[in-house]
Amino acid sequence: MPKDADANTAPAHVAIIMDGNGRWAVQRGRPRLFGHHAGARRVKEIVKACPDLGVKYLTIFAFSTENWKRTQTEVAGIMSLFRIYLEREAEELFKSGVCVRFIGDRIRLDDKLVSLMDELELRTAQNDRVHLTVALNYGGRDEVTRAAKRLAYEVEQGRLTHNDVDAETLAQFLDTHVLPDPDLVIRTSGEARISNFLLWQSAYAEYEFVDTLWPDFTPNEFAKVLQGFGKRERRFGAIRA
Ligand code: IPE
Ligand code: IPE
Ligand code: MG
Repeated sequence: MPKDADANTAPAHVAIIMDGNGRWAVQRGRPRLFGHHAGARRVKEIVKACPDLGVKYLTIFAFSTENWKRTQTEVAGIMSLFRIYLEREAEELFKSGVCVRFIGDRIRLDDKLVSLMDELELRTAQNDRVHLTVALNYGGRDEVTRAAKRLAYEVEQGRLTHNDVDAETLAQFLDTHVLPDPDLVIRTSGEARISNFLLWQSAYAEYEFVDTLWPDFTPNEFAKVLQGFGKRERRFGAIRA
């Protein structure tokens, strides 16, 4: 296990677009689902590495609002993998001090999965070692749209007026309202796009695109990417002092 990237410059919040499971499996002549299982094992290792690397918040993109377009077999397989994973890992996540949250729209997810998500959130709510957020049936546009809808409802009910609507208020209606914005967004598998991930929250995030397919992304490579982040100069629109 790699030690400390550099605790002083480590990004507090890292978000990861875990891409490349399908290609990883196909390269091995196996069904795509085989890659998703291998990807899930990686998640476990990366979460475990966070405290030593100084990462307090980790947000992972597990299933997008667009991923329903895949074959029924793949979607059903991924959903059953989520159920298996949550059942199997709940105890260990709790014991290792991980606070788990889910973002995304739960409306399209099956009842059994949603109750496992609720249970895990409740069970780990007091944990504070690492904050793991899983984006499941998540889309940035969908999230902002849902937030706008709820804001409109508050105005309709007379609890807010249009003058109350500013960036801060809108952010309070996002799924991520309790989280800081991501400092670094990593995407594996060589694709250089966001695919609708954390659109609002990543306004000033640094991006890192790596060629490695997600099931091959090791804690060592993770540590190297974090080291690279420490060398970047973030300006947030201002000029260097
Ligand atoms: C990412 O891997 C996992 C999900 C989107 C659920 P992919 O399944 O997109 O893998 P590739 O991009 O086809 O290799
Ligand atoms: C993004 O990967 C979604 C997840 C990693 C869950 P995709 O593989 O779905 O993205 P596109 O289709 O290549 O943009
Ligand atoms: Mg992909």
